[in-house]
Order: sequence, then C-alpha cells, then structure tokens
Amino acid sequence: MDSTELFEMATKAAERSYSPYSRFRVGAALLCEDDSVVTAANVENRSYGLAICAERSALVSAIAQGKSKFKAIAISCPDAAYPVSPCGACRQFISEFVGPEFPVRFGGADGRIVDSTMGELLPHDALHELADRK
Ligand code: THU
Repeated sequence: MDSTELFEMATKAAERSYSPYSRFRVGAALLCEDDSVVTAANVENRSYGLAICAERSALVSAIAQGKSKFKAIAISCPDAAYPVSPCGACRQFISEFVGPEFPVRFGGADGRIVDSTMGELLPHDALHELADRK
C-alpha cells in the first residue's frame, strides 16, 4: 500500500460522505499496522455542531475493530480547490494514537497533494502526563 493508493481510497471514501448541509465531502483512509485500511467519511447532522469529521470517524471505526496502531492517514476533499488539512479537533484526536513522525497526506480537487506529519500539524503537543496514566 503506497501513499498514492491510500489517497485514492480516501477519495473513494468521500463518495459516502453525508454532508447535505456543508456540501463539503471529506474522505479519510487510515493505514493500520497490520496493513489493513479503514476508510470513513464525514457525517453531518441537522444540529450542525454534531458533525463528525472523516478523520475522527476513521479512527473511531478502526479502534472499534480492534486496531490501535497506525502507519499513515490520507484525507481527500473532492469539493475543495485546495488541499484541506485536518481541523484542529482532529489534530488533537489523531495525536492521541500516533507519534510526531506519523505521515498525514491531504489533498483537494486541484491535484495538489501535501505530505505532512502529525508533529508539523500539532507542534508543542501537550497533556502527555495524562495520556501516560493509561
Ligand atoms: N471536515 C472533515 O471531515 N475533515 C476535515 O479535515 C475538515 C472538515 C468536515 C466537517 C464538516 O462535515 C465539513 O467537512 C465542513 O466543515
């Protein structure tokens, strides 16, 4: 599974987005340690604040399937003319399960792809003393 293929899976997953309010489809493909891929899309609600992003949906789905270690994530926004990075809440959420070197690839509909890392997206990550109590 290379990063191009992972991004293609994210784009495909965006087709399953439920986003009648924003009309902004997002797909995520999460590469797990066992080389399986969990895909997900954003799911909105008429109570707008309840929307769940594709990234968080993918992580929750993977963990519910018993997968807890991850190699990379790709995020695709076919309705954006620019590469869309994970929102702040998703950065925090992803950081719970991965380290700073974790690759995060994202792109929109214009063909540009950004390859970043969790450490770049969430520098000065904090609250490790709480996570270490697990
Ligand atoms: N969204 C995601 O799913 N992931 C992102 O990285 C950006 C935002 C969703 C939330 C909402 O359903 C729609 O995109 C517009 O914000």
